[in-house]
Amino acid sequence: MLSQLTLSSLRNISALSIQPAPGINLILGENGSGKTSLLEAIHLLGLGRSFRTRALKNVVQFGQQQLQVIAKTKADIPVGLQFDLNTGLQIRLNSAPLKRLSELAIQLPLQLIPANCHQFFEQGPRYRRQLLDWGLFHVEPSFNFHWQSYKKILQQRNSAIRQHKKTQEIELWNAHLSSHGEQITLLRQKQLEKLLMEFEFLFSSLCPAYSEATFSLKYRTGWPKDRSLEETLKLTVERDKQLGYTRSGSHAADWSFQVNDVNPIDIFSRGQQKLFFLALCMAQAKITKVMKNENSILLLDDISSELDQHHQQRVLAELSALPVQSFITSTDHKLMRPISEDKSAVFHVKHGAISDSDG
Ligand SMILES: Nc1ncnc2c1ncn2[C@@H]1O[C@H](COP(=O)(O)OP(=O)(O)O)[C@@H](O)[C@H]1O
Ligand SMILES: [Mg+2]
Repeated sequence: MLSQLTLSSLRNISALSIQPAPGINLILGENGSGKTSLLEAIHLLGLGRSFRTRALKNVVQFGQQQLQVIAKTKADIPVGLQFDLNTGLQIRLNSAPLKRLSELAIQLPLQLIPANCHQFFEQGPRYRRQLLDWGLFHVEPSFNFHWQSYKKILQQRNSAIRQHKKTQEIELWNAHLSSHGEQITLLRQKQLEKLLMEFEFLFSSLCPAYSEATFSLKYRTGWPKDRSLEETLKLTVERDKQLGYTRSGSHAADWSFQVNDVNPIDIFSRGQQKLFFLALCMAQAKITKVMKNENSILLLDDISSELDQHHQQRVLAELSALPVQSFITSTDHKLMRPISEDKSAVFHVKHGAISDSDG
């Protein structure tokens, strides 16, 4: 949780300092005032990268040399991030330089809900795997081990394929790849079952129109159901050689929740799709709390797009009941104050500065 946030020279924000509330933080302002930039700053701090650009130089304010984001996290541990056009990215956690970005991610379990999150269903499986693996990364320590090992072995197998090595040499990697792959599948399956339970509960509150619906998990492991990964790799090695890479495996997994046995994209309105995605992220936050006793951060960019007043209020009400610190942007100044006044704050942003706040 962030208790203090200070930024400088980030996009149109020259200098800004806020004291976020532990619950809901509403960030209100006109188009182009700097709301999304504020979320971008928090995202940078939690993950070491932006969600808008790969090139951090674009995030540095025009004409400036370096941006800085500084915050206090749980137990008042200071985190600081600096990106300089000449010297690049530097991160300090508790005043010591940080070598691995994943250490930062562990400190701040953070999920982004972008304005276009209803596109979740249209985007490729990679995006859905990322969402699922985010949760596993935070609650299941062995997942990270299996996934990192799996990726390394996959790279080695793929490079053996590209170098036109003998089939025997390619197959040397099969057993290890499979054993990590099968573990990843088990962990993902377990996490999805938990996620589905929390999701159903949250989604029916957010979207009463579907409160009677039944949701079911559809999970594809990344290889045919009736075989093990090891058998599949053995049977498909000639195909892989032709393709130039390993096609089957945990890196090709996909999942969805069906509503009354139908793919949500075939029946849901955009607003309902957005609520669906919101409920997923909220469910992950809840699981993270239950399993790791970690509160997480949700960045919700543009709550008002696709959602009417009534549903926005439902989202705020559900969020205020969760162990989540949220940062929510909107251009709608009438967006009502969330329920628990003591745990929430409102910040009005104008031309990259806070013009007014109450918390
Ligand atoms: N590197 C930069 N330096 C200064 N201003 C920038 C930079 N990059 C983008 N901007 C401007 O910052 C403003 C704030 O953008 P944004 O945070 O997306 O606004 P909002 O989300 O409030 O609509 C925009 O006017 C944008 O053009
Ligand atoms: Mg914006």
